[in-house]
Amino acid sequence: MEGFQVKGGEKLKGQVRLQGAKNAVLPILAAALLPEEGETVIRDCPEIRDADAMTGILGKLGCVCSRRGAELRLNNRGLRHWEMPDELSKQIRSSIFLLGPILGRMRRATVTYPGGCEIGLRPIDLHLKGLRALGVRILEEGGVIHCEGGGMRSGPVYFDYPSVGATENVMMAAALLPGLTTIHNAAREPEIEDLQGFINAMGGCVRGAGTQVIEVEGVKKLRGVSYAPIPDRIVGGTLLCAAAVTGGEIILANACPRHMIPVSEKLKEMGCRILQETDRLILKAPDRLKAFSQLQTQPHPGFPTDMQAQMLAASCLAEGTSVIVENVFENRLSHVADLCRMGADIRVSGRTAVVRGVKALTGARVTARDLRGGAALVIAALAAQGESVVGHIALVDRGYAHLEDALNALGACVRRVKTDTIDPSE
Ligand code: EPU
Repeated sequence: MEGFQVKGGEKLKGQVRLQGAKNAVLPILAAALLPEEGETVIRDCPEIRDADAMTGILGKLGCVCSRRGAELRLNNRGLRHWEMPDELSKQIRSSIFLLGPILGRMRRATVTYPGGCEIGLRPIDLHLKGLRALGVRILEEGGVIHCEGGGMRSGPVYFDYPSVGATENVMMAAALLPGLTTIHNAAREPEIEDLQGFINAMGGCVRGAGTQVIEVEGVKKLRGVSYAPIPDRIVGGTLLCAAAVTGGEIILANACPRHMIPVSEKLKEMGCRILQETDRLILKAPDRLKAFSQLQTQPHPGFPTDMQAQMLAASCLAEGTSVIVENVFENRLSHVADLCRMGADIRVSGRTAVVRGVKALTGARVTARDLRGGAALVIAALAAQGESVVGHIALVDRGYAHLEDALNALGACVRRVKTDTIDPSE
C-alpha cells in the first residue's frame, strides 16, 4: 500500500493549475457512449483512478478508449454489450449512471447492485424511479438490475430529492428519446451544467441545467466531439484549505470562482483574503484562522459535502469553536478519529462535529478512510508539527491527480512512499 509522508510546517505559496473535474468527467465519459458516429476527445481528462475505472468499463462494453496524457479518445463503433462487468462496476458507484446512456443506445442494460460505500448506504431508488418514469421496466434479481427499455418514452420525471447522479442518468437516457422529458427538482450542481454542455456539443438539445427544471428534447442522433470538462472546484477548494491552514498565499489558475463561492465565503469568514478574477482565484491566509459559526452541507448552491472534511481539518487550528453538520451522507465524519490522534479537539454527535480550535497539531501515522477524508488528513499533516504518514492514499488517488506534485510545487514537502516498508521506529 502507498501513503504520503508529509513534513509539516511549510507555508504553501505559488500558483497551481486545476485539473478537470472528476465529478464532471465521469458522467461525460458515460455520455460518450451516446453518439453512434465520430470519435469523442476529452481534453483535460484528469489522471485519477475513478476515470481509469470508468474507461475500463467502457472498454468492456466495446468502446475503444486510448489515453495520451490528459487527452482521452473514445470510439463507439464497436459498442455491442449492455451488461456492465461485475468487478469493475463494483469499484465505482458512478457505474450506475451508465444505465441511462446504455438504455438510450441499446434499449436494455444490466448492472450489479452497487451497494453502499465508505461514506454511506447510497441507495439507487431515485435512479430507478427516474428511469421507470421514462417507461423502463426494471427487474431486480439476486443483486442484479435488469433494465428493459423497449417501451421507453419521454415525459415528466419528478425527484423527491435533487440527486446529482439520478439527474444525470435521466438526462442521458432522454437525450435520444423522441419528445420532451422534463426533470423536476433536478440537482443544480455545476457538473450538471457541464453534462448539458457536452450533450449539446454532440448535437443534443438540453436546457435548464443549473436550475431545478431541466428539459431534454430527444434528438435522432448525436456525434462525437472534442470537449474539456470544467476545472475541479473540489480540488481547488482542497488546495485553498491547505494554503489557509498553513498561513500561505496561493493562486488557482484556470479556476471557475463562481463554482467555488460557498467555499471561498467560508474561508473569508475564517479571515482569509480572497480575490476572484474571471478564471483565477487568489487566497492570502492570516497568521491564524478564525473559527466559523456553522457549516451545513447541502445540495448546490449550498455548501458541498465534498468539501466538508477539508474545512473540518482547517477548522482544527482556527481560533474558537466551529460547528459542522453533514446533511448529505450519513457516514462522512470518519476522518475525525485520525484528526484527534494528531491533537485536534473534536466532539461528534450523530452527523454534527464540534471543533474547538487548538494552537498546534502534531504529526502522526493516520489512514485515509475515504477520498475527501484522506485529503483532509493531508491538509492537517501539512499544518502539523513534525512528520506524518497518511496511509491508504489509493483512496485519495481516486479523485486527485498526483496530489503530491501539486502540493510540492507550492512548497510543501510530500513524498509518496510504500507504507509497509516504513520503519515504525522512524
Ligand atoms: N440518494 C438516495 N437515493 C438515490 C440517490 C441518492 O437516497 O437514488 C441519496 C444518497 O445516498 C446521498 C444523497 O442522496 O445521501 C446525495 O446523493 P447524490 O445522488 O446527489 O450523489 P451521487 O450522484 O451519488 C455525486 C458525487 C459525489 C458527491 C455527491 C453530492 C459523482 C461521481 N459523485 O454523487 O462525489 O458527494 O454527488 O454532491 O458525481 C466525491 O467526489 O467525493 C463524491 C462522493
